Amino acid sequence: MRRFLVLISFLLTAQLTVAAEDKVAPPKVTKIGDPAPADAPVKDIEVTAKKYEFAPAVIEAPARSVVRVHLKAVDREHGFEMKAFKNSCVKFNPKETATAEIYMDKPGEYEFHCCNFCGLGHGKMKGKLVIK
Ligand code: CUA
Repeated sequence: MRRFLVLISFLLTAQLTVAAEDKVAPPKVTKIGDPAPADAPVKDIEVTAKKYEFAPAVIEAPARSVVRVHLKAVDREHGFEMKAFKNSCVKFNPKETATAEIYMDKPGEYEFHCCNFCGLGHGKMKGKLVIK
């Protein structure tokens, strides 16, 4: 009987462990830009990356709103970095999406580029965020 209980508890534990691993981790969120007030409106945008382009390559958003860029990679690992903000590189790959939350006080055009070497065209993989 005791051996049976030990076996049952072992099986239950094993099953719980498997269930926990099945859960997909939420995408990591990286904040870029000015600090956003808690009540700022949010604009969600999906951006897909593949050698050697972002789609869309031009993102438009109003100033003083949180631009939540959901990054998906089609073919391999890429990166997303705002040129004006050093160390803002967000890496993502086909198995792991990522989110960049960008908040800008002032209108302007802000370049972003791939920050993970992905091949010969890596240097040309760019886009821009147009804040109106
Ligand atoms: Cu994509 Cu480098």
